[in-house]
Amino acid sequence: MSTLLSKQAYEKQVAESRDRRMAWWREARFGMFVHFGLYSQLGRHEWAQTLENFPVAEYEKLAETFRPRPGAPREWAALAKKAGMKYMVLTTRHHEGFSLWDSRANPYNAVNFGPKRDIVREFVDACREFGLGIGFYSSLMDWHHPDGWRCAFDTEARRRFTAYIRALNTELLTNYGKIDILWYDVPAPMESWEGWDSLELNQHMRSLQPDLIINDRSKLPEDFGTPEEHITAADRDWEACMTFNGMSWGYVDSRQAAPYSYNAQRILRMLVTCAAGGGNLLLNIGPAPDGSVPEEAVEPLETVGRWLAENGRAVYGGMQRTSGWTEGRVGGNGVTSATCDGKSVFLWNWIWPAGGSMGLGGYMEAPKAVRLLRDGTPVDFEHKGHRIILKNLPATPPDPHAGVTVLEMEFDGMPRYKTFSYYPQLHGGLDVTDGERL
Ligand code: GLC
Repeated sequence: MSTLLSKQAYEKQVAESRDRRMAWWREARFGMFVHFGLYSQLGRHEWAQTLENFPVAEYEKLAETFRPRPGAPREWAALAKKAGMKYMVLTTRHHEGFSLWDSRANPYNAVNFGPKRDIVREFVDACREFGLGIGFYSSLMDWHHPDGWRCAFDTEARRRFTAYIRALNTELLTNYGKIDILWYDVPAPMESWEGWDSLELNQHMRSLQPDLIINDRSKLPEDFGTPEEHITAADRDWEACMTFNGMSWGYVDSRQAAPYSYNAQRILRMLVTCAAGGGNLLLNIGPAPDGSVPEEAVEPLETVGRWLAENGRAVYGGMQRTSGWTEGRVGGNGVTSATCDGKSVFLWNWIWPAGGSMGLGGYMEAPKAVRLLRDGTPVDFEHKGHRIILKNLPATPPDPHAGVTVLEMEFDGMPRYKTFSYYPQLHGGLDVTDGERL
């Protein structure tokens, strides 16, 4: 590897290539997270080993009974494609320390035990078959390796363990062709990038995969932030990772998980928040012990996919982060959220106006045209002062998939928009300020 760069020089170099490396990722918007490992057999959360204080020797027995069926990763990828997702991230090795690939550095792996197959290889092949970006989740915390905790206070153990982590990730980024994303998790027990040798580790990772995108969980900021189980925009690239049920990344019994799991409408609410805030959504599935897709995830994801096939322009690509961003509420009204691409405002109607008309305040200029996004059907409107009034709307929501109809309001560039004071008496056509850009 070339000379090790200083932190400042490294971060400058990485920043210079970021727009090029992340263009496809920013366009992608929506990805599938997959949490699959020995813990999937327990069906009680991916932290079961620690939360239930399993002795390591007892937990290791799960390696013998782990039997994902052949073709399971292909089912995940097929569903991701159908859902309109553009990339996938698989837990290649979670905190339990079990590698899902043919590892020389870690004999505790899926080729030596359980399925005696390289699950990572099957995952990579499936992603390529369906044209999906490929991400590897790689836990830094390790509950199996004897130095996984000693490294916190024993210099030799830390040297051995960081060498081990480097070896694992070198295998992953060397043996499986082009890999797009390295998704680190839980940098514990060391609490600094120096403790993890992250500066050297990540320069080595990037030397193996020059277009690699790395998340912010190796104690260096790297390429994108990772709000978890909440969707909060940031002034940098960011990706919200969300479980499917608000409780577990790993498999839990589908029948019992169903009431807690998201439907298509909830997923669309997450997507509008990400698109309006300029971030991505990485939505998780926790496959069953045999690798099957959890049944409660299928219908919602397939519905979202059908919806995205008609309304994807409101989601994918370079959405402009609307000023005063608050979950896409800017530009919409109480029952409508908005995303905008710099020319059109896309109104996501969660509740379709039954009376055939609806107003939108704050717009200082009239759109050139308003239409149903899904089929281009023109929509009547008028512009009065700072209000757009949509008229003669169909009595029921035109969207047949999720009941969420998107209207496109086309402008000559970013519309001037101003959230006015909270006093309607000021809105009645009085002279108002000239508004700000959305
Ligand atoms: C947390 C959990 C881990 C999960 C990760 C996903 O770090 O500890 O189990 O894989 O979130 O972002």
